[in-house]
Amino acid sequence: MSYQALARKYRPQSFSDVIGQDTVVRTLQNAIEGKRIHHAYLFAGVRGVGKTTAARILAKALNCIKGPTTEPCNECVICSEITEGIDMDVREIDAATYTGVDNIRELRDTTQFQPARDRNRIFIIDEAHMLSTGAWNALLKILEEPPAHVVFMFATTEINKVPSTIISRVQKLMLRKITLDELIARIRKISASEGIEADKSAIEIIARRGEGSVRDSLSLLDQVIAFSGRSISATDVATVLGLSDINFFARIAGYIADGDHGAILEALDEAAETGRDFKMLYRDLLSFVRNLLLVAGNANESMLAVAPEDLPTIREAAKKFSYSELLRVANLLLRDDETVNRAEHQRLAVEIALLKAATFPRLRAVEEALAGTPKAERRSDSPVRQTAKVGLESPTYVKPEPTAADIDAFIERVQKARPLIGGYLAAAKSRRRDGNRLLLTFSDSFTAEQISGAKQALEQIAAEVFGEPVSIDVQLDNPAASAPASKSSPLRDDPVVQAFQKHLGADLVDSRKR
Ligand SMILES: Nc1ncnc2c1ncn2[C@@H]1O[C@H](COP(=O)(O)OP(=O)(O)O)[C@@H](O)[C@H]1O
Ligand SMILES: [Mg+2]
Ligand SMILES: [Zn+2]
Repeated sequence: MSYQALARKYRPQSFSDVIGQDTVVRTLQNAIEGKRIHHAYLFAGVRGVGKTTAARILAKALNCIKGPTTEPCNECVICSEITEGIDMDVREIDAATYTGVDNIRELRDTTQFQPARDRNRIFIIDEAHMLSTGAWNALLKILEEPPAHVVFMFATTEINKVPSTIISRVQKLMLRKITLDELIARIRKISASEGIEADKSAIEIIARRGEGSVRDSLSLLDQVIAFSGRSISATDVATVLGLSDINFFARIAGYIADGDHGAILEALDEAAETGRDFKMLYRDLLSFVRNLLLVAGNANESMLAVAPEDLPTIREAAKKFSYSELLRVANLLLRDDETVNRAEHQRLAVEIALLKAATFPRLRAVEEALAGTPKAERRSDSPVRQTAKVGLESPTYVKPEPTAADIDAFIERVQKARPLIGGYLAAAKSRRRDGNRLLLTFSDSFTAEQISGAKQALEQIAAEVFGEPVSIDVQLDNPAASAPASKSSPLRDDPVVQAFQKHLGADLVDSRKR
């Protein structure tokens, strides 16, 4: 028999087996007991804390032959079919691949029918924040006049992306992160049933690294078991999770500082060969960069999450960047965190993220250049287009727009379906929806060409996400290259500023310090 991932094998099948979510469980059980079943629930919380699990148990509790009951019997045909995911009346929908308005219209039609066999027709909509505005509007119509026997269960890691009109029509259930002690107890219990001997400290490291997520903790446990077999020590865990690998991250940081793409790819290749988990690697890199920021910002060293012997390495690595550069790199890496987490091709996603970070030019001189400009040059009435401001500390380069959430959903979809194109897309200088056109502006022709080449595929995805045909309009906008020569100025001619404009796609607007 093939190895079944622990997270799947140990998915709770009844409420009593769910850990850490007492409030949610009690709320649901009280509702069932009091026959006050809502027609729409929204499970919100970070990944791996029991959203899908709770929704499935609730579906069973509501539809169980012996139900509605506060605990499903897990024996009847309905319970078994829901567990297996083959019950005709309980449909699970992954909004990440089902975002379009047509899908929801079709869903709306099916809600008009009586359930085929069960008490309720249940729709579990996972990753609900990925639905398009059009899809939400179609859903809203159903939620306003909910058909009898229909129960919606939405699950999302990003409740802030769910429209407020929806939020007000659902019962919200906030799942919390699982505490360290609860995770330790869970890992210990599962190790015991698997006949695995694990050190106390080994379990503790795994639980810590799970960061409140049962799923993440269990996949780490999977990896450690694959490496060390039946008996697990803290050293095994450290080896597999690369805990003592501070030099590796210092190297990567150095390559980012030097803009050395080749070296970055080589280092990641090494990591792949030693079987490193790229999601973890990325998270570790983020915390390493955080440490660099703390060191560069002269924070109290007790705030650093590192062993004392690692401090010199961190100080050395921090010296390669200015504070602004570190902020910039940290911002970039953070922006891609979710992409890396969700990506199917995690290695590729990490590669793209790091190459993007390394593409940024040396910024140290920019502030100085901006600060030292003669007054005459600060006027903003030059004919050069005036768009984005150079915002050193701003984490986003694209102004928020009303349709930003939709566009984000589009980009996420592309990143999932076509990771490489998704990476290029994420580098767009601006993305704007204008009627049935999606305007994408790029500051370099290479990226623009890549996107143009994939236009057809992109338009297809766009149509699904936006719920209507959308044509992709690729534009090249490189003010550094197109600025008229006569308008030269010490600031505009500064190679650092030009590089900055080229890579960040920023225009020179006003150089006063705000
Ligand atoms: N609260 C929990 N109690 C016990 N196991 C959990 C809990 N949350 C998650 N798990 C474990 O993690 C796996 C994934 O959980 P899931 O409910 O799909 O997470 P999500 O919140 O991302 O929907 C489950 O199969 C189970 O093994
Ligand atoms: Mg889930
Ligand atoms: Zn049952």
